[in-house]
Amino acid sequence: MSEVLNTGGTHDRLCHGVNIVTASHEGKRAGLAVAWACQVGGQRILVTVGPQSHTRELIEASGAFGLTVLRSGQQDIGRTFGLHHSGDVDKFEGLEVFTAETGSPLLRRCPAWFDCRVTHTFEVGRTKLFVGEIVASDADVTEFVPLVYRGDEY
Ligand SMILES: Cc1cc2nc3c(=O)[nH]c(=O)nc-3n(C[C@H](O)[C@H](O)[C@H](O)COP(=O)(O)O)c2cc1C
Repeated sequence: MSEVLNTGGTHDRLCHGVNIVTASHEGKRAGLAVAWACQVGGQRILVTVGPQSHTRELIEASGAFGLTVLRSGQQDIGRTFGLHHSGDVDKFEGLEVFTAETGSPLLRRCPAWFDCRVTHTFEVGRTKLFVGEIVASDADVTEFVPLVYRGDEY
C-alpha cells in the first residue's frame, strides 16, 4: 500500500468508494485507484492525486481525466491500479477500454464512468486536487453494490 494511504486510526472511520482515474497523452496512458474523489455540484468531479502518481503527469499534460466507478467484486482492478505504477506495468491489459470525448481511457463492465476536462487545480501540500467538468458520462442502470474503501480495507 502506498504511503499516501497509510493514515490509519481515526481515518478508518471515513468511507469512500473506489474509482479508477485515468489519463492519456501523446500515446501514453495511465491510471490509478482513487478513493478520495467527490462530486462538486452537478457538473464537476474532484479527484485527489498524490505526488507518487505517474498518472498525475498525464492529467496535467492532457488537461483531462476519466473516472470509472468500481463495484463490489472488482477488488482485483482496484489492486492492479492501486498497488502498481503505470510506468512499470500496463494496467489496462486484459480489460475492455474505450474513450469518449477527451481521449482518457475508460473501463467497460463497471457501474459508471465520467469523462472530465480539468477546470481547476489546487495544491494542498504535495497533493493536487483536480476539479473536472463532466463532458460525457454513462451508468449501468441495474442495481449495484459499491466497492467501499475504508482505511486499508476494501
Ligand atoms: C483502494 C485504493 C485507493 C487509493 N486512493 C488514492 C487516492 O485517492 N489518491 C492517490 O493519490 N492515491 C490513491 N491510491 C494509491 C494509488 O492508486 C497508487 O499510488 C498507484 O500506484 C498510483 O499509480 P500511478 O503511479 O500509475 O499513477 C489508492 C490506492 C488504493 C489501493
